[in-house]
Amino acid sequence: MNWGMKNRLSLIMGQDDGRCVMLAVDHGYFLGPTEGLENPREVLTPLLPFADSVMLTRGILRTSVRPEFRVPVVLRISGGSSIIGEDLSKEALIASIEDAIRLNASCLAVSVFIGSKYEHQTLMNLARLVDEGERYGIPVLAVTAVGREMTRDSRYLGLACRIAAEFGAHIVKTYYCNDFDTVVRSCPVPLVIAGGKKLPEKDALQLAHDAISSGASGVDMGRNIWQSKTPVSMIKAVRAIVHDGLTVEETNRTFIHESTNANVTTNPQK
Ligand code: R5P
Repeated sequence: MNWGMKNRLSLIMGQDDGRCVMLAVDHGYFLGPTEGLENPREVLTPLLPFADSVMLTRGILRTSVRPEFRVPVVLRISGGSSIIGEDLSKEALIASIEDAIRLNASCLAVSVFIGSKYEHQTLMNLARLVDEGERYGIPVLAVTAVGREMTRDSRYLGLACRIAAEFGAHIVKTYYCNDFDTVVRSCPVPLVIAGGKKLPEKDALQLAHDAISSGASGVDMGRNIWQSKTPVSMIKAVRAIVHDGLTVEETNRTFIHESTNANVTTNPQK
C-alpha cells in the first residue's frame, strides 16, 4: 500500500484505535430534501466538530461545508436514480477522480446492489473506482445497498460484503444483523455499519454498541444522528461507544440527558 493510501485510510479509520464515526449526509442524492436534512449546512455546522469524517456528495460539500474546516471527506461517487425512478440500483459513477482530488477527498464511496437488476453495473462501478483510487492513493468505501426485496440477514449481507472486499474495496459499509460476527469474519477489510431508519436514541446506541462488540470498525450514521431531537448529544454518545467503549446506559445518562445541562460543552476533537 502506498503512503498516500495509508495516510488517507488512517484519516478515515483513526490512527489510534482503528475505529471511526463517519457522519452520513449523502441521502439527498436519491431522496432529495430528506426530513431533518432539508438544510445541510445548518445540520452539519454543529455536528462536524464531533465527526471523524463526513460522507456526502460534491454538491453538498461545496455548498455546505467551509473549505477551512478540517474534516476528512468521504465523497459519494455513485448515483443516477431517484426514489421515484425506475430502479434505485441503476447507478453510474457521477464524479471524476480528478474532481475528487480537487475536493481533497480522503475516500471515495460507491454503492453496490447485490442481487438487484443492475448488480453487474454497480459491481463494475466499484471495480473502476478501485482502479482509479489505487492510481492516486485514495481508498474506496463500498456501500452494500439493500434493495426492498432483500432480507438484511447475515447470509445476504455476508455475501454482499465479501464480494465488495473481493473487488478491492478498502472499507465496506453494511447493516447490522443477527450473527453479525459471521459477516465480520468473512470480510477481510474493515466494516462500518449504517444506522438505518430513525430509532429511539437508546435503540440506535444499542445498535452501535452491538455492532462494535461484534467486530465492526465503526459507524457511518446519518438519520439516527440528525433526525434526533438532540443531534449533538447523539453524535457524542455514538463517539463514546465507538471510541471509548462506554455502555449504552452510560452514554444515555451522560450525553442524551446532557441537553438539559447547558454547561456541558465537551468536544473530544479539540
Ligand atoms: C444511503 O444511501 C446512504 O449511503 C447513507 O449514507 C447510509 O444509509 C447511512 O445513513 P443512515 O445511518 O441514515 O442509514
